[in-house]
Amino acid sequence: MLSKNACEVLFGACLLIFCLPGFSEAVGDYSELCRLFKNGTNIRKPGTCDEYIHCSDGEGIMKFCEGTTPYYNSIKQECVKELSNSHLYCGNRCEGRNGTWVSDPTNCEQYFYCRDGVPLAGACPIGQHFSESSQACMHGVDSQCVDVANICEILPENTAFRYEDDCSYYYVCKNSKQTLTKCKSKLYFNVETGDCVARNLVACDAHSKEGVCAASSKVVFKSDSATCRGYFICKAFGTVADLDPLWNQCPEGTFFDEGRQLCGKATDVVCTHNRCDGRGTMLVVSSKNYCHNYIQCVDGLEVAESTCHFDHFFDEVIQACSSKIIYDNCCDEQPNSS
Ligand SMILES: *[C@@H]1O[C@H](CO)[C@@H](O)[C@H](O)[C@H]1NC(C)=O
Ligand SMILES: *[C@@H]1O[C@H](CO)[C@@H](O)[C@H](O)[C@H]1NC(C)=O
Repeated sequence: MLSKNACEVLFGACLLIFCLPGFSEAVGDYSELCRLFKNGTNIRKPGTCDEYIHCSDGEGIMKFCEGTTPYYNSIKQECVKELSNSHLYCGNRCEGRNGTWVSDPTNCEQYFYCRDGVPLAGACPIGQHFSESSQACMHGVDSQCVDVANICEILPENTAFRYEDDCSYYYVCKNSKQTLTKCKSKLYFNVETGDCVARNLVACDAHSKEGVCAASSKVVFKSDSATCRGYFICKAFGTVADLDPLWNQCPEGTFFDEGRQLCGKATDVVCTHNRCDGRGTMLVVSSKNYCHNYIQCVDGLEVAESTCHFDHFFDEVIQACSSKIIYDNCCDEQPNSS
């Protein structure tokens, strides 16, 4: 951090003065970049033949190829002895440009000035982001600090990565351009496996708002269809639907009940997404098998489901199976209930 600030203080005032090679590159916060990619992904630092960012547990670490393998091959994702012609330009975004600036897709504060196709690295003053369309450093451009529009130029074909605005979508790199792709109905993109899976298996910060709200003259609450506590608040716009409903969560220990339009005691609410959501480490009753089944929760996640012996019912209050008949509050899916 210290050397990064020093770099910006010394050189930030004049945009055309460049940090020394190996100086700006050695620092930088790449956690926003690495959030988009699966653990272990390597991303070439644009404009270099030997540097890449290694994403590990959400952090980005600058690495350098050296010794007998001095070049970085972005397709093999490793350091190699030599580069074939197709790697000649090493992800150089300045190829064919003269006298213009291009973004560094891995870091919104950095840019390259292209002089006869040669990239010269520079950094914006503290608090500013580089905008390629404006050809300038700008204040408060966007909170998004990754240039998604150009990142496929430095990634292997078919790399799939996270779309931050909606978990049911993801990007795929095709012909060096990002393509937004949608998962099949009711699925979310899993960045670690690169495929679409059941929504309750993905830790999602941006639940899908598509088709959630209908036109209504009163406020309606709708399940997020991914978690037991999460719901959307559909505003009353009358003849048009709320396309951007706010997401909220029921308090811990309660689940959202769409039928009753409220947050109810978890044992009273039918929900199979994740019955451990907000319940810590304990045993909870399942929404299957008419209160004979219970789920072991560890830190809010479902670990295992079991069945009580001899037709016993699971009682959350005593955290055990009991011969007491528990039926009224059973949170099973009731066929044809309305
Ligand atoms: C992420 O990858 C690193 C190696 O690149 C590994 O050590 C670490 O355990 C992985 N983390 C997870 C959560 O899989
Ligand atoms: C690039 O731009 C500079 C300055 O405008 C100019 O002197 C130079 O001839 C240009 N190079 C090419 C290849 O056009």
